[in-house]
Parts: sequence; structure tokens; C-alpha cells
Amino acid sequence: MDKIIVIDYGSQYNQLLVRRVRDLGVYSYLIDNKNDLSTLDKNEVKGIILSGGPNSINDAKSPRINPQIFNFNVPILGVCYGMQALASYFGGKVEENVVKEYGNIEVNFDNSSNLLEGVNNLSQVFMSHSDTVTNLPDGFRGICSSQQCKFAGMENREKNIFALQFHPEVRDTVEGERIISNFLFKICGVSKNRSIDNWIEDKVKEIKQIVRNEKVLLGISGGVDSSVCAVLIHKAIGDQLYPLFINHGLLRENEENLVLDSFKNKLGIKVYYKDASHLFLKELKGVTVPEKKRKIVGKLFVDVFKEEAKKLDDISFLAQGTLYTDIVESGKGGNSKVIKSHHNVGGLPKELGFKLLEPLNELYKDEVRELGRKLGLDEAFVSRQPFPGPGLSIRIIGSVTKKKLKIVRKADVILHEEIEKAGLNKDIWQYFAVLLNTKTVGVMGDNRTYFYTIAIRAVNSIDGMTAKFYRIPFDVLEKISSRIVNEVPFVNKVVYDITSKPPSTIEFE
Ligand code: XMP
Repeated sequence: MDKIIVIDYGSQYNQLLVRRVRDLGVYSYLIDNKNDLSTLDKNEVKGIILSGGPNSINDAKSPRINPQIFNFNVPILGVCYGMQALASYFGGKVEENVVKEYGNIEVNFDNSSNLLEGVNNLSQVFMSHSDTVTNLPDGFRGICSSQQCKFAGMENREKNIFALQFHPEVRDTVEGERIISNFLFKICGVSKNRSIDNWIEDKVKEIKQIVRNEKVLLGISGGVDSSVCAVLIHKAIGDQLYPLFINHGLLRENEENLVLDSFKNKLGIKVYYKDASHLFLKELKGVTVPEKKRKIVGKLFVDVFKEEAKKLDDISFLAQGTLYTDIVESGKGGNSKVIKSHHNVGGLPKELGFKLLEPLNELYKDEVRELGRKLGLDEAFVSRQPFPGPGLSIRIIGSVTKKKLKIVRKADVILHEEIEKAGLNKDIWQYFAVLLNTKTVGVMGDNRTYFYTIAIRAVNSIDGMTAKFYRIPFDVLEKISSRIVNEVPFVNKVVYDITSKPPSTIEFE
């Protein structure tokens, strides 16, 4: 399959570069600048993009051009740091600009460059740089300029090398999509190869080839990723797939039924189900420290998984719904900083001696949701909100009991019903109820009560790493509060969390 590789120099926009290429229908992925590129299939790589990055090429320690990129004999596009690295590599001069350019800047474009064909002569771009190319290397010519930046772009037609000081991948660059499209289709000559239907067809073939007649075990949590993964693998190998769903007793209201029903009745996939809730609740009894709760749940999950895996004969593969972003965020897919180490079933494969199968590891979350829809999962299932591995144990402050689980589940259902009734469900990224470890005095029907408090959390976020609290209208909050205190036993107070992340986090523990 034709591919465009993006060499990662650490820019916060490097993922966006990959996305823009994918959105134009061409397969692309990020690759570390230090990687050995000789392992890539020369027939498949049709173009190379060098990303931006936070360094200065004049700093001796900053990353350089990996000369292996020239062995592919394909067009190259340098972006921001990528342009400076190319200029320096070919003998040009890069210097620190006295006036930095950050934000939306007007640029004059020379349409005679293939890269800029059809682009407006004067257009806004997104710049973010302090270094700039002040002398072009031999054989290069300038193709665009801004007031502060004489060479906002350069090209060497003979070598098929192009470079831009600004970021075409950022939406603020008005002609960004046209420029990237020119690079892909006019310069690299790639064909659109990426539709979700093609992808499914190719993946199914690939899974069949890898697995052959062996058996695959997959832990499903009821979340989108593992469920989509199950449906995809099942399409390839049918009953050679053993999906295992462990109920840790910390699920949301009716969650186990929703998951089991979707698999059995809507998808026709047999799921191996283990209700281990009594074990989790026993071990969590009296535990109040958040990290301890998380560790207990994590360890028990592994124990139960191992135990159940032993009962299933001859399993050779362990499948996981790992996504592309999980790999990058865990610091394994590129130069960007480690943001969060994802703790799915990460430790299992080595210990259990399974071969690993991760068919979604080149996809983003929204692509997985699209895939899920194509594979026949319900919209309600596909668009479910993120739910933490430790489940409701970290939405109950203090010790976890069956009674408290009932309370928090019921309050959460009411919250969801009212948010949906108000038509806000599409506007809010994540919302849930939390049971606080605080009892207060109230009065109900002339009687004194001494009951629990429920906190309502609603946030908007892109990736969960930062979040802004959502302003639920007061009339909706009033309805939620009134229903919770009236319908949920042992609750006499509802509070609304109005903190963002940072300094708060989304979950309470
Ligand atoms: P925090 O609380 O760290 O949450 O601001 C950020 C996002 O991650 C989810 N979350 C988890 N997801 N395992 C998960 O798979 C976990 O242990 C976990 N803890 C938090 C949380 O719901 C939010 O979307």
C-alpha cells in the first residue's frame, strides 16, 4: 500500500500532519527520526514529510537529517524545523530571527512551484518559529515569503525537495489542505488508498494470515476499543476468537447486560463471561486510599484473566485494542513526551507467553468509532464515554460497598437521562456522578436525615489530558439535583464540580 511517512522531530503538531494526510485518503504514520529506515518497504513509501520540532538546528545536540531518507528517491517536504534541518544539511544558513513569528501571518506565494499550484497569492498561514533560513542552500529557490521571513518556503526541483517555514497542517493556514494535497497527488503521485472499507478488507486478510488456525484470546472491557477489536477479529477468524469479559463489579448500571447483549444478539459473537465481582469487592473492603484501590483492581484483573485463560485450551495469541495514540502517548511511537502510560492489559503478554495481536494500533479513536459503525455496532455503543479501568471504585470516595455502588449507579443514570433530555449529550465530552465520603444533615418530610452527597462532574476535553468544566444550565442542574435527592435513597445533597484540569483531574481519585 502507498504510504507517506512523517519523520518526527517532536512538534506538538506532528500528529496533525499524519491526520491531514490520512484525511486526504492516503495512509500515513509517524516514525522516529532515529529509526532505521532501511526496514521500510521501498516500494510502498511514496513521499516523506519532516515534521516541525522545538529545537534549534544550530544547537549541536539537536536532531539532524537522517540521510537514509534520500535512499527512497521520493519527494521530501520539510515543515518548520524540517525546513531548517534540510537547509542546514544542504549548506544553507539558519539564524535566530530578531522578531519571532507566532500565530497568523500573511504570506506571499509563488504559484509557479508545483507545491503551491492553485494557492492564493496572498494568504494567511500559521507560523511558530524563532529560527529562520537566511541563506538558501545551492540549488534551492524561495517560493514564498512573509514580512519577517524572506524564505517562508523553498524548493529544489531537481532533487524534488520542498520545505515550508509555516505549518500547513494547522487549520489556521488557509491554504494548508491544498498545499498538502499538491504534495501528495501532484508531487508524490500517490493514489487515494484509504477508505474504511478497504481498510477492513485488508485487515481481515492480514489477521487471517497471521493467526491461521490458532486461537486468539481478547479481554473485553465493554469499552469501544476492545469491542471494535473483537468484532474485527471475529470477522476474520470467527470462533477461533475467545473474547473474555471480566465483570469486576464496578461497572455502570446495566453495563454487563448491554455488553453481553450487544455481542450475543446484535453481533452474534460468543463472549466468555466471568463474574468476579465478589472477589473485587472482598479485596476492596475498607480500602480508602485511591492508589491502593487502583492497584488492587489492576492486580486482581490480571489474576482473574490468567486463571480464565488457563481454562481455555491452546490459546496462542492475545489480542488488545491498543490504538495508535496509546502507543504515541506512552512514548513509544515518536519523539513527543510521555503523556500517559496506558495500562490496558499491558503486562499480560510477556507473562503468559502469548503472541500479541493489535489490529487497531494504527488508528485514532474517531477512526475506531467509524470502524465500529461500519462493523455493525450500535451508535449508542460506539459513542460511549471513556470509563476508567478501576471503574466505580474511583467514583466512590472512601471505602467501596455494595450499597454505595447502588447509590452512585442510580445517580449516574439520572444524570445521563437528564443530560440527554436536555439535548446536551453531544456537547459534553464526559459526565458522571461521584459519591462523596461526606454525610450532611438534611430534612425530608419533617424528619432529620444524615445522608450522602453526590457530586456532578461534566467536562469538555479533546484527549482527557486537559479539560474544562462544562456549564450545565441551572434549570437542568436543578432537575438533576431534585431527581437525585428524591429518587436515590441515602442522598440528601447534590453539588456541582466547577474545576477544570489542571489543577483538578477529571476523575476524583
Ligand atoms: P483523569 O482523572 O486522569 O482522567 O483526569 C483522564 C481521562 O482518563 C480516564 N481515566 C482512565 N482510563 N484507566 C483508563 O482506562 C484509568 O485508570 C483511568 N483513570 C482515568 C478518565 O475517565 C478521563 O476520561
